Amino acid sequence: MNTPSSLTALQVMQDAPVIPVIVLNDVAHAVPLAHALLAGGIRMLEVTLRTPQALACIEAIAREVPEAVVGAGTVRSRADAQAAARAGARFAVSPGYTCAIGQACRDAGLALLPGVATGSEIMMAQEDGFTELKFFPAVQAGGVAMLKAWSGPFFDVKFCPTGGITLQNAPDFLALPNVVCVGGSWLVPGNVAEQGDWGRVTRLANETRVLHRQLFGG
Ligand code: 3PG
Repeated sequence: MNTPSSLTALQVMQDAPVIPVIVLNDVAHAVPLAHALLAGGIRMLEVTLRTPQALACIEAIAREVPEAVVGAGTVRSRADAQAAARAGARFAVSPGYTCAIGQACRDAGLALLPGVATGSEIMMAQEDGFTELKFFPAVQAGGVAMLKAWSGPFFDVKFCPTGGITLQNAPDFLALPNVVCVGGSWLVPGNVAEQGDWGRVTRLANETRVLHRQLFGG
């Protein structure tokens, strides 16, 4: 059984400007991919539960790459949360929010970044004690303008916009005071894993250092 994690959602968000959203079809790709991202300075890894191999990939990274912090994305049910925790995930990301998913992640000892796209969803998540949220799908649901509008009534909420984010538009999001980091699949494009092009993954991860400088200077 997984040891309950003391990791918080804020710690997950503050580690790097980008959380990579990862889809893996082959467990053999999991460890080399984690190493490639680490080499580019990224260690919070969101492996989405979208393929039959996803849990085995999480397990492999948790076991073999202790420098990485692996989480499960696309967590949509209590069973997903339990399976992710058993596989060794330290955090969970969900595409939407329900009280059940919030409770399931608490029970499983997983820090949760719940997905929201409306004011009502933000209020539901806040009622349950979640104040660090994923804005999904960010660009499609209103982007920077939406986050600016939310900064009034939801002045105490921090966001990780995900969906439609690129290296090019990430600076506009990261410049907002209510944005801590962004999420995106661009660091692990299409069939890069099938091609074994780990150098490309490291280069893409390295490119995000420019975003780090924007946030923290240096
Ligand atoms: C997702 O869950 O698919 C993420 O939001 C990734 O979106 P992106 O592919 O637009 O980065």
